[in-house]
Amino acid sequence: MRNGASAGGYVAPVPLCAVDLSGATPRPTGLAELDRVLGGGFVPGSVSLLGGEPGVGKSTLLLQVLRSVAETGAVVVLVSAEESSAQVRLRAERLGPVPPTLLLLEETDVRAVAGILEDCSPALVVVDSIQAVCDPTTSGLPGGVPQVRACAEFLVRLAKTHAVPFVLVGHVTKDGTLAGPRVLEHLVDTVMTVEGDRHHALRMVRATKHRFGPTGELGLFAMGDAGLTAVTDPHRLLLGDRRPGIAGSAVLAAMEGQRALLVEIQALWAPASSDSAPPRRSAQGVDGGRLALLLAVLEQHGGVVLGRTDVFASAVGGIRVTEPAADLALVLALASAVATIAIAPDVVAFGEVGLGGEIRQVPQAERRLSEAARIGFRRAVVPASCPDGPPGIELLRVESVSEATTLALARAGDRSVTRQRLSA
Ligand code: TYD
Ligand code: MG
Repeated sequence: MRNGASAGGYVAPVPLCAVDLSGATPRPTGLAELDRVLGGGFVPGSVSLLGGEPGVGKSTLLLQVLRSVAETGAVVVLVSAEESSAQVRLRAERLGPVPPTLLLLEETDVRAVAGILEDCSPALVVVDSIQAVCDPTTSGLPGGVPQVRACAEFLVRLAKTHAVPFVLVGHVTKDGTLAGPRVLEHLVDTVMTVEGDRHHALRMVRATKHRFGPTGELGLFAMGDAGLTAVTDPHRLLLGDRRPGIAGSAVLAAMEGQRALLVEIQALWAPASSDSAPPRRSAQGVDGGRLALLLAVLEQHGGVVLGRTDVFASAVGGIRVTEPAADLALVLALASAVATIAIAPDVVAFGEVGLGGEIRQVPQAERRLSEAARIGFRRAVVPASCPDGPPGIELLRVESVSEATTLALARAGDRSVTRQRLSA
């Protein structure tokens, strides 16, 4: 049922419950981890932006998507404005045999894309990248704001008119300063990012804007010799190299969308390298502002005296955790580092730390506990109001940072600790 014309010649409203949904059904990409992020796949006529730093794996991921869709017999097109046809073919062959319905157009003129839609009615079009194409009717250099905007507006119109899903690649620098993607975010239906540390295999795909489904779901891939493969058991990658008995390490039961992840948080301190400059605070994979705040809380409320020390904190494996639920594990790792007392290997933690040193409840405690128990953790340091977890994991409910650090750092035979010790 389409809008009907009313008496005045204007379009009349229709009952919302009668609106046709067939056009808004996502089509699976065949990459389960990506479909998880998208809530099923790409919706016909939608335009998605895939952002990420150069070299993170955007072109590889999209080539795999194109291959996967082409393997169903559908025609798909890659518009390559950055790489030559030969370069693209070389990459594609690394990933396996190339289906014949995967078409390539080496082109920088965005207007040429219109021809593809007339000629071969593709099921998916990828433009790599939006910074490298240009619109001859607009002034400015490719990658500049006027060009990026004009090209994106043109492609959005094409996608909607032909009901074909488009994916645009957008490069972002480390600080996200490049004008392009920011301009684009408003024009497209979905914004996804690929993140990952060049030195680690793990690649994380998230949707930060999604008009057709939830945001916050995480897709996990590992970059290998034959492209990206789905990571179905992330704890192997994230906790595989963990060595028990080392001070300055705590395991966080984190949530990414609906998925629980066990992440090792590490901390290290060293005497300040300079007497005059402020001590260093280095955060990798954890929030730098949060680290500074937690150090202050530890000094004020946790009895942990840092003085003039450089402090380093990181989430292991190239993952990034930003949720406040990471606070408690970070605090435990810091306290363990300062006291040089290791936390026992069967302990996980989660909880938000308030400025008063209180430990606050966080969402999805049951899921975090279930995953920790499944992987073999037996004890969890959690906020006092945490609901019960599954059998097999003992909850150590704590109300304050000092209570948590006392538990974690008590030495064998320490009489002041009446509750169970967590130290190794
Ligand atoms: P690429 O997809 O070109 O990144 P982007 O498009 O985001 O700039 O990926 C580049 C990196 O991925 C490059 O360093 C090589 C590496 N890579 C692999 O490790 N394995 C592979 O199979 C492929 C195709 C690339
Ligand atoms: Mg690329």
